[in-house]
Amino acid sequence: MRSHCAEPEIKEILISREKIQSRVRELGEEISRDYAGKPLMLIGVLKGSFIFLADLMRHITIPCSVEFICLSSYEGGTESTGIVRMLLDLRSDSSGREVLIVEDIVDSGLTLNYLMDNLRTRHPASLEVCTLLNKPEERKIPVPVKYTGFEIPNKFVVGYGLDFQECYRNLSYIGVLKV
Ligand code: IMP
Ligand code: MG
Repeated sequence: MRSHCAEPEIKEILISREKIQSRVRELGEEISRDYAGKPLMLIGVLKGSFIFLADLMRHITIPCSVEFICLSSYEGGTESTGIVRMLLDLRSDSSGREVLIVEDIVDSGLTLNYLMDNLRTRHPASLEVCTLLNKPEERKIPVPVKYTGFEIPNKFVVGYGLDFQECYRNLSYIGVLKV
């Protein structure tokens, strides 16, 4: 981890705060329609999804609960190692529940593939994925993503929860880091 976070070294704003906010609202409305009458369990994947999840949840108008899981696959670099570790597990039972995984970004798909395999063994009533960002060019393993905020090119991005070495999560937009 960096000892401090420098001033944003952002090359380009890829998605503005306004665009994020209006898309997150749309996703919340769509999820509320799709799960009407079915109490939802949102599972946020820490740490990257926490800001997206907090905003998304405020646009979900049906009953829902929230749980967190913490996975680590990058170990501080900018490329997935393929080795996923579970650092924190759910605190309540997901069996028989309508489960929606909330991710910040799907890149190689390795993290999500691991998580979906793991959650399937706990027999949820349904299991779907909502991701803010999707980098389809980088996919190494196919993963079924039901809700996508934005498809983005293969660039390393930060902001709105996403980090580089624990920095830049607090930016209200998605930016491309200067390298
Ligand atoms: P995957 O296993 O390669 O799909 O990686 C998924 C995880 O890697 C995400 O949940 C993020 O935490 C992280 N990640 C992937 N791409 C980026 C990026 O461009 N910026 C920041 N984090 C990323
Ligand atoms: Mg993540």
